[in-house]
Amino acid sequence: MKNFILDVDTGVDDAFALLFAARHPEINLLGVTCVDGNTNLKQVIINTLKVLDAAEAGDIPVSAGATRPLIDEPRYAEHVHGADGLGDLGFPESKRTLDPRPAVELIRDLVEGSSEPVTLIPLAPLTNIALFLRAFPESAKKLERIVLMGGSASIGNATATAEFNIWHDPEAAAIVFQSGIPITMYGLDVFNDLTMNRTYSKRLMDENHAPSTFAGRLVDAMLDRLEYEITLGDYGAVATALKPELSTQVTMKAMVDTTFGPNRGATICDRRPEAFQELDPAHLDAPRIEVCTAIDVDAMRELWLQTISRR
Ligand code: RIB
Ligand code: CA
Repeated sequence: MKNFILDVDTGVDDAFALLFAARHPEINLLGVTCVDGNTNLKQVIINTLKVLDAAEAGDIPVSAGATRPLIDEPRYAEHVHGADGLGDLGFPESKRTLDPRPAVELIRDLVEGSSEPVTLIPLAPLTNIALFLRAFPESAKKLERIVLMGGSASIGNATATAEFNIWHDPEAAAIVFQSGIPITMYGLDVFNDLTMNRTYSKRLMDENHAPSTFAGRLVDAMLDRLEYEITLGDYGAVATALKPELSTQVTMKAMVDTTFGPNRGATICDRRPEAFQELDPAHLDAPRIEVCTAIDVDAMRELWLQTISRR
């Protein structure tokens, strides 16, 4: 079993990740923390509880976190995920209740309470994670690894150079990247490769199985909205944390651009030969992280489909 904590801004692809993490037999989903990102925190919480219902999950603690980024104003992505952040499909309200602890305390308690290593998997802006690192640094040191969906060593999506989760809160991302905790970055270099189309949504609908139907409806809603093949997105980071062999990872020095210019929120990943890097004072103290540069798309997609539909 692998012990995971997910930090989410549920959104549709966060939902794909939560469904998987709650249903895979080798994952012990210790808890989920919610943060402002794709949509506002209140809606993220509503969506997250709905998705855990759809996953037929057990009693997993869910906590509320930051209502906005550390410095910037919130900038939402409802054009991608719908006004309600979950495809505007009107899924039923959940009867689940929030854990009374704030996100940073839930993460601390789960890490401190686990006798086995814990992997923290942020799938959203890194505001909660930065606050946790600042509030409970001794607990943070006990994390086995942070496997985050965010950043890019190539193109952006929120801007020409910045990926949405990092762009939403660059200061938080910089704190996380400089934390010294082992980091795997599942970024846009692989994020868009893990595509879904109606062949797969039909396969899910044909299962005649509630979690599969929920997932299939989300896939179709996104295909209707975006009119191009969608990505399983955030799910890929959870798959990478569970089965690292499904991705190719390259160690790179990486830093976050927190300047207030056109590249704000970009992750600057250094691919130059070491000799060139050593001559560059700007990068000398940049942390080395594992950057996902390729994934086994077919294996990751099949893993998700089979896990969603497992009885
Ligand atoms: O850039 C993609 C990321 O932004 C994903 O986590 C998606 O859910 C949004 O939060
Ligand atoms: Ca997300």
